[in-house]
Amino acid sequence: MSKTLVAYFSASGVTAKLAKTLADAIGADLHEIKPETPYTDADLNWNNPKSRSSVEMNDKSFRPPVAGGVDHMEEYDRIFVGFPIWWYVAPTIINTFLEQYDLAGKTVVPFATSGGSGMGNTNRELKDSCKGANLKEGKRFSANAGTSELKTWAEQF
Ligand SMILES: Cc1cc2nc3c(=O)[nH]c(=O)nc-3n(C[C@H](O)[C@H](O)[C@H](O)COP(=O)(O)O)c2cc1C
Repeated sequence: MSKTLVAYFSASGVTAKLAKTLADAIGADLHEIKPETPYTDADLNWNNPKSRSSVEMNDKSFRPPVAGGVDHMEEYDRIFVGFPIWWYVAPTIINTFLEQYDLAGKTVVPFATSGGSGMGNTNRELKDSCKGANLKEGKRFSANAGTSELKTWAEQF
């Protein structure tokens, strides 16, 4: 039996809503990627070069610790990974998440929400974190993308 997981990180709830809609639409399991230390509003201030998110995203080798994990990742062969676009790419906590598992042979499909930017260089930053996986070209959705749009998109994988 092939199983699908929708794993997501969401700092302010937008991606969380989309991830839930996607998981419902395709009958997948849902997993929230939680930071060990949650991001406060001040942490998320991209106008402040000293805010936590600015400092973290300036160092692409930094891995923000994740709390908890996916039980039985080996059971999933298709993993949708959702996140907000931060500075034109995935937040580095997505690298932390991917690097926790052996994803060789699995299909990994990124999806995102953003203020308007597309996926940018997201895959370039993610590919070394999921070695051996079939990393697909992902897609950025608007915050209010609905069930049928998400289902139609997901079915191609
Ligand atoms: C630190 C930070 C950096 C961001 N960088 C971008 C960006 O480069 N392009 C963009 O369109 N939106 C950017 N955004 C906006 C978020 O991608 C957008 O609000 C997203 O939908 C938030 O999702 P969430 O509620 O799941 O965290 C940024 C937000 C934060 C907090």
